[in-house]
Amino acid sequence: MSEEVRWTNERFGGYRISQPLEEDIDLTHVGSGTPCGEYLRRFWHPVAMTEQLGSRPVPIRILGENLVIFRDLSGHIGLLHRHCAHRRASLEFGKIEKNGIRCCYHGWQFDVDGTILDTPGEPEDSPIKHRICQGAYPIHEYRGLVFAYMGPLEKKPDFPFLDSFDIDGHEMIPYSIHSPCNWLQESENSMDPFHSVFLHGRVNGPQFPGLEHFIALPVVEYFKRPEGFSYSHARRQGDLVMMRFHDHITPNMAQNGGMFQRLDNPKVFGRTSLTKWVVPVDDTNSRKFGWRHFNDADEVLRQGDKSNVGWEKVDFYGQTAHRTEEERISNPGDWEAWTSQGPINIHKREYLGTTDEGITLLRSKIKKDIRNVERGKDVNQPQGSEDRPFHTYGGDTIIRVPEDPVDDRALMRRLQREVAEIYFAADQYEGDERAEFVVRHITEKFGEQAIQVEK
Ligand code: FES
Ligand SMILES: [Fe+2]
Repeated sequence: MSEEVRWTNERFGGYRISQPLEEDIDLTHVGSGTPCGEYLRRFWHPVAMTEQLGSRPVPIRILGENLVIFRDLSGHIGLLHRHCAHRRASLEFGKIEKNGIRCCYHGWQFDVDGTILDTPGEPEDSPIKHRICQGAYPIHEYRGLVFAYMGPLEKKPDFPFLDSFDIDGHEMIPYSIHSPCNWLQESENSMDPFHSVFLHGRVNGPQFPGLEHFIALPVVEYFKRPEGFSYSHARRQGDLVMMRFHDHITPNMAQNGGMFQRLDNPKVFGRTSLTKWVVPVDDTNSRKFGWRHFNDADEVLRQGDKSNVGWEKVDFYGQTAHRTEEERISNPGDWEAWTSQGPINIHKREYLGTTDEGITLLRSKIKKDIRNVERGKDVNQPQGSEDRPFHTYGGDTIIRVPEDPVDDRALMRRLQREVAEIYFAADQYEGDERAEFVVRHITEKFGEQAIQVEK
């Protein structure tokens, strides 16, 4: 076997690294029985949009498994293995019944939990329906998305309710977008605040009008949480310092700040305007599901209006394949970046720099969690109910703090830590009380003038 060469330092040294290298199987293979596949199967994931569920069953593929999803005539949603338990005809050709679905081939009928309700060609007293079930998964429908739990039943967590699932004044618009690449690539984009500087700004010019402040190199602080990460990136314009908090709840859920937040006035404890999951379809395909949050506080521009969001449609610039070749080449967006890393990015061929701290943190946490699942341990995941939701931090805080002529980057680093400390201390409260705590403590710490809005 030839020696594994990951990089070259030779001029015109392409030949040295022309041998293909293997992908990181641990992080990228998602089928049942693989380490990552088993880990991913400990979480609830969105798998479809309710908008997809009409009069016909819908074939879908999640975590390398072929499935079928439908809403029966009683209104219950079924997520079943696609191939019939009898002789494996596809249930995508099944007939939706009052209870469950009937296979087209020999008429076996399955309830949404996989119970066999009818085997019409068999004798009346056939024991088949007591002996086996069709493979089925539990689902939870919420605000236009259908979530599924595809892991061992004895490990099934309650559906986690996050504070961002119900924010006053937010209209939540579900959407979904396919990417022909491994799930980790798109997921890592959310842990990489530096790409905005270049992809969305410096390389081909600003892609989001009014957001030119994102072209400045940010000062980034990462905060480790048992369930993932919260991180903040700070930028200054005059006396104003904008701190944008992101959530990355492992493995694959992310939230950012106000999508089109300007940097022109103070603001305290803004909330997210995008909640999303990157769900593996299989090793080389993924599907993002999420909600855009339309509201007057954090999403004032409402770019990509409601009619433009939804099933396989554009949520905002550069997120899908649905642009002309000319547009995609002359001004590539996020979608072009993460899909062009290949069907499965080869980590051994990457050369990581200081801006990749988020990527390294994410990969090592996921690896650690995979190992824990392999050892039979439970994995940390968000727990929350409608009364006591799991707290998230995605959103913007902008305060007025004069520049430090000696070391302003150190000042911005400190500001983010101090604000994060206040955010986390506010966790003892819910709803308005929590927001009031943050405002009160930011005012006490930085002074009234720090949050004074000027018209
Ligand atoms: S294959 Fe489905 S009923 Fe026979
Ligand atoms: Fe981006």
